[in-house]
Amino acid sequence: MNVVSVGIDAVEVERFRAVIGRRPTIVERLFTDAERGYAARFPDPAERLAARFAVKEATMKALGVGLGAFRFRDVSVGRYRGGAPYLVLSGAAGELALDRGIGSWLVSLTHTALMAEAIVLGLCVEAAGVGGDASDPVVSALGPYSPGSLDVGA
Ligand SMILES: CC(C)(COP(=O)(O)OP(=O)(O)OC[C@H]1O[C@@H](n2cnc3c(N)ncnc32)[C@H](O)[C@@H]1OP(=O)(O)O)[C@@H](O)C(=O)NCCC(=O)NCCS
Repeated sequence: MNVVSVGIDAVEVERFRAVIGRRPTIVERLFTDAERGYAARFPDPAERLAARFAVKEATMKALGVGLGAFRFRDVSVGRYRGGAPYLVLSGAAGELALDRGIGSWLVSLTHTALMAEAIVLGLCVEAAGVGGDASDPVVSALGPYSPGSLDVGA
């Protein structure tokens, strides 16, 4: 598996909570329905939303771009049944990834009441190795797992 790119980001949960508290509509602009639905299962959705925001910013770093290069919803976090996260890129973010030869991603999150952090790794197209079209965002998200392990509800 050839790692060709890496990105990391940390978000202060209280600051993020203040931002979404001031502008509630921003949540719909930043996060997919599935991401919001998953976060809403918990008493403090801001903590998980902050972690997912960190993923989106970490992905910008991995792609070598900044704010405005793609829509935040172009990068979303899904979950395998065991709880492990996977990354799905679409739209402009997906095109940037293909331009850079990235066909598959690995992502890891951590969060507490104070901080949310994420790291993403981009793998080269040849190393994606899931037997499908690496430009397909779903195939690209699967990595070494099988479709049977996907939690479609998240
Ligand atoms: C992985 C685990 C130890 C992390 O716990 P933690 O240190 O309290 O929590 P952290 O804040 O550091 O990490 C939480 C994130 O870990 C990720 N995570 C959860 N389960 C994971 C797993 N199995 N593998 C990798 N990452 C996992 C998630 O992204 C989660 O954040 P999210 O709920 O916002 O998506 C804990 O979630 C766990 O024990 N999960 C059960 C895994 C398991 O045994 N699954 C059964 C096999 S199918």
